[in-house]
Amino acid sequence: MSFSTEWEDCYKAKRQVNNWPFTDLISTYYQYARLEKGAPILEMGFGTAPNATFFNTIGLNYHGIEGSESAVTYATKKYPELKDRLALADFTKEIPFDKKFKLIFDRGSLSHNSSKALERCAELIYDHLTDDGVFIGIDWFSSSSDLVDKGVYKSKDKRTMTQMHEGCAANLGEVHFSDKMDLMEIFHKFKFIMITHKIINHEYPLPAHKDARWDFVIHKS
Ligand SMILES: C[S@@+](CC[C@H](N)C(=O)[O-])C[C@H]1O[C@@H](n2cnc3c(N)ncnc32)[C@H](O)[C@@H]1O
Repeated sequence: MSFSTEWEDCYKAKRQVNNWPFTDLISTYYQYARLEKGAPILEMGFGTAPNATFFNTIGLNYHGIEGSESAVTYATKKYPELKDRLALADFTKEIPFDKKFKLIFDRGSLSHNSSKALERCAELIYDHLTDDGVFIGIDWFSSSSDLVDKGVYKSKDKRTMTQMHEGCAANLGEVHFSDKMDLMEIFHKFKFIMITHKIINHEYPLPAHKDARWDFVIHKS
């Protein structure tokens, strides 16, 4: 595994155990990718699988890839029926399922990787989507976020920080900050359908700070 082992430390210590699906993912799915029951879908970086709960409920054929062994063990205990569809792997290196998906998505996962790794990952996603397939990205870190100077730039990669010491990404390995052009360059092979820049000013508790993230939807063709 080449991505940060800090995620494994985090789940081993039972931090970030999420069990509720993320609202922006659900609303984006309903607006842009309603699929018929049984359609194969893939989540990149499922963590403790909060989003699997939702997609199982609506009858989709959920698959996931996750790089933390502890998170995979947690999710497999929660969903034993998904055992063969929850893979332990680095999704910037391989998608270890021998099939194509109607929908591939990530919620806060891809942007924990370097620029180079994201380029490779975009190729893998392209190859594993059906021709009418959709990719949904939710909660990609924006370069307008106050988090942007809370770490150290990875050498030669001016978009990726490590050693974050504050905020939601502290001690969680690499954090890639995107602007709109960056998203378009990473996914240059795809057709963009929607891009939303979410800027949230947290006023209290102090210190007040600005969180900025991207949601986007792209089609393979
Ligand atoms: C912020 S958590 C999001 C988890 C889940 N998607 C959610 O919505 O709660 C990011 C997850 O991505 C995983 N991850 C990051 N980079 C990865 C990679 N290259 N390969 C596999 N998993 C990765 C981390 O282990 C972590 O579980």
